[in-house]
Amino acid sequence: MQEELKKIEAEALSELQAVANSADLEELRIKYFGRKGRLSTVMRGMGKLSAAERPVIGKLANEVRGNLTTAFEEVGEKLARQERENQLAMEAIDITLPGRRPQLGVKHPITQTLERIQQIFRGMGFHVADGPEIEHEYYNFDALNTPADHPARDLQDTLYITDEVLLRTHTSPVQVRFMEKHAPPVRIIVPGKAYRHDYDVSHTPTFHQVEGLLVDYHVTFSELKGVLHSFARQMFGDQTDMRFRPHFFPFTEPSAEVDISCTVCSGSGCRTCSGSGWLEILGAGAVDPNVFEYANYNPDEVTGFAFGMGVERIASIRYGIPDIRALYENDLRFLRQF
Ligand code: DAH
Repeated sequence: MQEELKKIEAEALSELQAVANSADLEELRIKYFGRKGRLSTVMRGMGKLSAAERPVIGKLANEVRGNLTTAFEEVGEKLARQERENQLAMEAIDITLPGRRPQLGVKHPITQTLERIQQIFRGMGFHVADGPEIEHEYYNFDALNTPADHPARDLQDTLYITDEVLLRTHTSPVQVRFMEKHAPPVRIIVPGKAYRHDYDVSHTPTFHQVEGLLVDYHVTFSELKGVLHSFARQMFGDQTDMRFRPHFFPFTEPSAEVDISCTVCSGSGCRTCSGSGWLEILGAGAVDPNVFEYANYNPDEVTGFAFGMGVERIASIRYGIPDIRALYENDLRFLRQF
């Protein structure tokens, strides 16, 4: 039995040297220490020994088991360390590789222009208001003094959803919506989308407008001129000239179309302004008393002015874009220029 124990120790130690990974080590551990393992089998045989042999063999068996346990632990630790190092090496990330540059977006030129317009009018004390894009014809037309037989209501221009509900054709309906809910004085701008059945170099079916409305007890037309002139100079530069041309809008009286001096030729005449020296930028006028009646304001007490500008138009002048449809084509080569 003594020899058997020595043999087991020697064989186990030599097999241990050949173990290459923790799975093999575990197999070997079972082979020797398992319930049916070689060492356990020998230990079980101790019962049959004589009283004289038992302490001697018992001491040796304990030594062998102690030696082997230590040897197994050492090899186990070595293997665990190795395997961890291998794994770390395998999962290593080469941080010297150059990174991929994230694609940075820029604000769309329409957004940039809208923000600039709002900034200018906020500076003059205007508040920002809004209203629905799906509108009732009452607010889009009737309450703006635009009767049922008015050509602006034509199916050719207006995108109807039902007989009475439509996509607003301008931001002007917010004028009456706002006045219904707020007593004068009013000083608002309304940036937003509008829709028309229209498509060419200067029109897209969805477009943006900024509406303006100022109502108070002694408002005059000269204040409209002052506000718009200040806007034009802040938007297009200090040298910008402005002119009012008589025009007609159902919801203002008198009405005007407003031009600025051409930003390309400063007024001498060029291709951009078709030789006229002027660029039209907005419509404006004194609020028609009928509109005040619809909004339940007393036209004998208050006066006011309104204006409305196309944001695509302003952006195309600001950035020199000849065909505004480019603003909606989402071509990154175009958009990255702004
Ligand atoms: N709503 C007009 C349009 O879309 C623009 C406009 C003109 C608005 C005169 C106004 C205004 O408030 O006074 O063509």
